[in-house]
Amino acid sequence: MDTPLRLEVIVASVRPERFAPVVADWFLRTVRAHPEFDTDVIDLAYTPLPVELTENEETAAYRGRLRDADAFVVVTSEYNHGYPASLKTAFDTAKHEWRAKPIAFVSYGGLSGGLRAVEQLRQVVAEIHMVSVRETVSFHQAKKRFDDTGDTRDGAAIDAAERMLHQLAWWARTLRAARAADPYPG
Ligand SMILES: Cc1cc2nc3c(=O)[nH]c(=O)nc-3n(C[C@H](O)[C@H](O)[C@H](O)COP(=O)(O)O)c2cc1C
Repeated sequence: MDTPLRLEVIVASVRPERFAPVVADWFLRTVRAHPEFDTDVIDLAYTPLPVELTENEETAAYRGRLRDADAFVVVTSEYNHGYPASLKTAFDTAKHEWRAKPIAFVSYGGLSGGLRAVEQLRQVVAEIHMVSVRETVSFHQAKKRFDDTGDTRDGAAIDAAERMLHQLAWWARTLRAARAADPYPG
């Protein structure tokens, strides 16, 4: 029970000029202050997954990372009121690896802070037997929320991150024990 929870942080944007690393790096600094998580990053910009959903060595390695994880956080932007296509490919590339595991969201964008993308993602993750964590971290007008060092003074986001990580840890611990006691019937 004391083994740290294996957390994979998935960075969705693959645009060359993306803002994603600023948000992701801030979140990683936040989560690494929580010793209950053993955290790693799957940056989709450096994890080429075929949109045709064909199999190769990279998809097998990717699925292995997912299989070993107890919890996930997606760092996502919003494009045209939806989430990035790279993220849909990332979900569709695996199946059983996601099941009976929790997922939380850190979103950013313009006025809506990426929240429309997150609400769509809740539908997708329900279909692949995941539990989505209620608390969300969201940055609206994201580029104005971070200083030159990549830090933020957005108190609402800082508080939300703490609440979200507590909820994620509870789900991850609970579901890890449940999967071990009785394999998920999915
Ligand atoms: C194609 C495109 C569509 C966008 N649509 C939205 C949108 O619907 N809502 C929003 O809040 N921001 C929107 N934006 C702004 C992005 O959220 C913002 O540029 C953000 O930095 C994108 O993340 P990235 O730079 O990490 O890729 C859009 C940006 C792009 C490039």
